Amino acid sequence: MSATGSSGRLTIQEIAKLYADGQRIAMLTAYDYPTARILDAAGIPMLLVGDSLGEVILGYESTVRVSMDEMLHHTKAVVRGTERALVVADMPFLSYETPDLARENAGRFLREAGAQAVKVEGGVRSARNIEAIVRAGIPVMGHIGWTPQAKLGMGGKVRVQGRTREAAQRLLSDAVAVQEAGAFAVVLELVPEQLAAAITERLHIPTIGIGAGAGCSGQVQVVTDLLGLGAFVPRHARPYAHLRETILEAARAYAADVAAGTFPGPAETTRMDDAVLEEALGHGALDRASAAPFPIPLDRDL
Ligand code: KIV
Repeated sequence: MSATGSSGRLTIQEIAKLYADGQRIAMLTAYDYPTARILDAAGIPMLLVGDSLGEVILGYESTVRVSMDEMLHHTKAVVRGTERALVVADMPFLSYETPDLARENAGRFLREAGAQAVKVEGGVRSARNIEAIVRAGIPVMGHIGWTPQAKLGMGGKVRVQGRTREAAQRLLSDAVAVQEAGAFAVVLELVPEQLAAAITERLHIPTIGIGAGAGCSGQVQVVTDLLGLGAFVPRHARPYAHLRETILEAARAYAADVAAGTFPGPAETTRMDDAVLEEALGHGALDRASAAPFPIPLDRDL
């Protein structure tokens, strides 16, 4: 049996099957075409065009600066770079505050950018809007715990959520609300591992953890953290490569070769027939016969 839908891409039904089979699901963020191609070739089943785009790619100080147009632009690139992965687009700040707005903007990610699902932050507070999107036939991934778009409302400092009895109960309610609203999966961000495991046990949709321990149904990492591209790696992330150092070394070696005149060398250089050049520079028979002025000085004019 085929592991993918008719387009060749994984569907939310196949993600549900992975979950039902007890397979842990790996998700990564992606923001551009070449990286998406590589992650797709690596077999990552779900790629999230996260609004972390704002901080890790566009250099904003916060995700709240990211616009719909920016999200659509990067989602299109990731969709073009993938054949198999299910692409989830993050709905940016204030793009899903009412059911109508949520449905309209979620629709743009499918219609204009070619995504297969959207992600929405917030539990109980977002349930009505999630439901409206799901009713329109658009798959939704929820996102609870630490929700970066609400950073200022949550005290301004990145913090593990759900540590007190009340906060843990609120998080359980959020998880159930997202599931009942029809989400096909839910991200748990910065949640103590026991609470994340307890939520995972109580839901019948996959939980995708980030800083939420190994008891979730799957994990998501920001790809720049995974690749060691940022200047700083959050505690919950594990760099599997050190591309910042690799890029630094490559850029310095290149600049040194240019300064020394050793780049480009013969292998990176094209030559032409010397006789043709002679003619072009005015040494040919035709050129000698012609007195017509030429816009570029020929050797005889120098
Ligand atoms: O924007 C993002 O990258 C995210 C993940 C951290 C889940 O929301």
